[in-house]
Amino acid sequence: MSNRRVDNLRRRFQGIVFGGDYNPEQWPRDVWDEDVALMKEAGVNLVSLGVFSWSALEINDGEFDFEWLDEAMDLLGANGISVNLATPNASPPPWLATQHPETLMVERDGTRVSVGSRGHFCPSSPMYRDRSRRMAHRLGERYASHPALAMWHIGNEYHSNCFCDYCDSNFRRWLQAKYENLAVLNERWGTTLWGQCYSDWSQVHLPKPVRGSVNPARELDFARFNSNLQKELFVAEKHILLSATPDVPVTTNFMQFFPLNDYHRWAPELDVVSFDSYPDPRRQDAFIRAAFNFDLMRSIGGGEPWYLLEQAANAVSQWSLNLVRQPGTARLGSYQALAHGADAIMFFQWRASRFGQEKFHSAMLPHGGTETRSWQEVRRLGNELRELKNLTGARSEADVAIVWDWENWWAVEGVAHPDNGFNYPATVMRHYAPLWKAGVGVDVITLDADLSAYKALIVPNQYAISPEQQAVVEKFIDNGGHVLISYFSGIVDHDDMVIANGYPGGLRSIIGAHIRELSPLVPEDAVKTSGEQDSGLPAVFSASSWQDDLVLESGHALAHYGDGYLQGQPAIVENLRGAGSATYLASEFDEAVMEAIVRRILDRAGTHRLQDAPLGVEVAERKNQAGTFLFLLNHSEAAAGLTLQRAGRDLITGDEYAANDPLHLSGRDVAVIFSPAPSARTRRGSP
Ligand code: GLA
Ligand code: ZN
Repeated sequence: MSNRRVDNLRRRFQGIVFGGDYNPEQWPRDVWDEDVALMKEAGVNLVSLGVFSWSALEINDGEFDFEWLDEAMDLLGANGISVNLATPNASPPPWLATQHPETLMVERDGTRVSVGSRGHFCPSSPMYRDRSRRMAHRLGERYASHPALAMWHIGNEYHSNCFCDYCDSNFRRWLQAKYENLAVLNERWGTTLWGQCYSDWSQVHLPKPVRGSVNPARELDFARFNSNLQKELFVAEKHILLSATPDVPVTTNFMQFFPLNDYHRWAPELDVVSFDSYPDPRRQDAFIRAAFNFDLMRSIGGGEPWYLLEQAANAVSQWSLNLVRQPGTARLGSYQALAHGADAIMFFQWRASRFGQEKFHSAMLPHGGTETRSWQEVRRLGNELRELKNLTGARSEADVAIVWDWENWWAVEGVAHPDNGFNYPATVMRHYAPLWKAGVGVDVITLDADLSAYKALIVPNQYAISPEQQAVVEKFIDNGGHVLISYFSGIVDHDDMVIANGYPGGLRSIIGAHIRELSPLVPEDAVKTSGEQDSGLPAVFSASSWQDDLVLESGHALAHYGDGYLQGQPAIVENLRGAGSATYLASEFDEAVMEAIVRRILDRAGTHRLQDAPLGVEVAERKNQAGTFLFLLNHSEAAAGLTLQRAGRDLITGDEYAANDPLHLSGRDVAVIFSPAPSARTRRGSP
């Protein structure tokens, strides 16, 4: 992913990128001058331009108007502000839909959507593809040598899910390429159940509504197909743009906990991974969820720095209740993104719109203007970030990996399971939160990754597993790795077919036990559980949501059920194997128990926190040739203090600290402690 296009980008900015989405077409020309003056005041050096501008750039089929965009590009360029220029494919103009209604997306229930919003296109429509690619061509040609052009923003938050006839044919073609032979499809989809056998390819369709329960294997294939279909759209535009500008990097913006696209598979197509972060102020754990998504973005990009392309300076407008972000939260969240590997901090959007669907969405420059706290916070942040110049390109080290796997997400939330209330993101967050609290570096991976760099591996509800993935886990443990696996893991293969050999067929030898029966619990039920002595677990605690009827093989119990029909049977199993270990959770446990379990595994793996800090103060680190950047982020409203373990200088305040000096953080404040690398210290002092 690091290539000459990314090198160009770093050379251009020589520091942290700061800015937001800019929509000059919503404003009279005289406002643009004020925009640019205020952008400079806030330290803006990059804007995303033209994201929804198709109807303003192509008034009618083939009738283009690039003049306003020329002028905006020139104005920005003349003021030293670079442009992340969008291909506006996310919102095709009404003329396209009127002349070619088949370009409109069809919902699963058969409803063809109409114009008046955005994202309404069919990704397979030949006409949509032709016209959106023609636009990418025109933009590529016209702005190839424009000095303001820094990067291409292809589309916006790809999220189609179309059930039209074009998509139906495409799906069939994709299946034909995958299976070649219809008999194989019949076998993999288990079509002998309920008499679904296909005798000719013409009978095979994408999953429109059915009378009863859907076929889970068909749903899985459709999810794979759909993610790939979106990716193909992105890649086609990327090739068009790279042929005009081989040295300009391409990106598109990813979303948090987004089910439709497998970003692990997308990321290799992007020069820079970009992310839109919208933590919900109503959630206590919003910043832990943000940390997870940031780690995911860094990990899918192979550890390379990523761009925070969108966030809200204050409230959003798309939810049922849009609470303001408390003072200091946007600044703190921005530093948190940097701490987890971002090299760019950007907002949606520069100036708050006066009309339309997003008129109450916050902006860097709100309706209230420069008097508002949002503007003050944004301006302060933009100017502070100049001091973090040398951070760019720095990477993070992680001893721990946690699995986040879209294929498994689709499978585990599929139909007809013992419990149909699985919520994969919530489950993964229950496993990630203790890692976050432990203050260790975490990468977010799939079981297809090379695990040799990690000491501990967390595998939440890996319901679907392939033999290759099983082998990866085995090798990891045998080489000395320590693994945590939770219930409803290793049950099916990637066709959603139960793995033979008793549950969990895919993991039996790894957990050192087998399961006779899978048994969900009603949400209110709690089963008394007791931890074994020396397990580090409480003597009595509760299990909920699920129980496995476990039979030990090579494993031993760390906890037993104390009542219920499984009284006396193991609730947590530990299996020592090779040079490592596996710990298996047969139920769901509360936060404190999860923390104790994770602590036991991290201790055993010899993974230590980066810096001691009180609860609520997040610790993260990045390193490059210049040295180490230690981020201390106080997410609580109250002040916090800690003793710094390593000497360094706070890049924000300029304060110097010796090792063992106390450091004070006000509520929602942050420190970035820079410690030069020994070689860098002799070469050039400090950043
Ligand atoms: C998304 C979109 C933006 C905007 C924001 C609002 O991230 O990409 O265009 O609508 O949401 O929060
Ligand atoms: Zn379609």
